[in-house]
Amino acid sequence: MYEKHFGLKKKPFASHPEPDMLFWSDGHKMARTMLAYGLTSGNGVVVITGEIGSGKTTLLHDLARRHKDGNRFGALTGDIGYNGDVAAWILYGFGIEAKGSQPSQSLSQLDKFLAQNRNAGRKAVLFIDEAQLLEAKLLERIRVLAERQSGGHPVLQIVLFGQPELGALLNMPQLAQFRQRVVSHYHLRAFTRAETSDYISSRLAAAGGSGDLFTAEAVDRIHDMASGIPRQINILADTSLVYAFAASANGVDEDTVKRVLKDREQHGILKVDPPSGL
Ligand SMILES: Nc1ncnc2c1ncn2[C@@H]1O[C@H](COP(=O)(O)OP(=O)(O)OP(=O)(O)O)[C@@H](O)[C@H]1O
Ligand SMILES: [Mg+2]
Repeated sequence: MYEKHFGLKKKPFASHPEPDMLFWSDGHKMARTMLAYGLTSGNGVVVITGEIGSGKTTLLHDLARRHKDGNRFGALTGDIGYNGDVAAWILYGFGIEAKGSQPSQSLSQLDKFLAQNRNAGRKAVLFIDEAQLLEAKLLERIRVLAERQSGGHPVLQIVLFGQPELGALLNMPQLAQFRQRVVSHYHLRAFTRAETSDYISSRLAAAGGSGDLFTAEAVDRIHDMASGIPRQINILADTSLVYAFAASANGVDEDTVKRVLKDREQHGILKVDPPSGL
């Protein structure tokens, strides 16, 4: 809609994960390092938590691409039901259909799959997004399956991504054994003011536009209202561009952002939520 007006090749602030537009904040770099460490230093569980909209799924897509050579990756989300057959559920994450109708058949199929990978010197890594939605019982079942027939040495590496409630879930007494397998944990925090500014510039540049479409005051206002959370920044920055376009302005200044915020306050259903814990 407004792309041509601002000299952009695409929308700079989409609301879905776009690993090609990844901005490496210190937090995202650190999460990437923690995962790389977890993947190389053994077979324990890696946990990455972060506020809603902080970039966990975006990071997951990037990491799967980055480490795909020599590894076998699977992906699941915590809201996908598993109908009681955990092995079939894990196979599904790896894109494999369970052949039998009984959980015992899925189990031997999973064992074979994991043994094949181990024999070929490949790591089998299962990413579980939205892991805060999993039941404690299921997490414990996954741990047991990951360690089956391996003398306590896991043959399936688990990486959990989740909102802050995942921390509370993992602290439940019945998950003591699971917790002990966590080799690295990182909490993706919100952007600092300087990071928000660099983030907005980098997304504009990635969309083919000039970095000065937003004044410094407009960026500051967006940062404060979005509490440094990328999805919230995207929503406000995108809407501000629409408002600036409607007013035939050359860019976004603080008044544009203020108008967006005022309209949202009065009529908006898409309100900007503060991060949990604030
Ligand atoms: N480091 C980043 N670089 C570029 N874009 C980012 C970054 N982090 C987040 N985003 C953008 O912010 C939005 C939200 O990111 P994402 O969906 O990955 O968050 P999330 O933490 O998985 O959210 P949820 O808790 O709702 O699952 C997306 O539009 C994504 O492109
Ligand atoms: Mg997500």
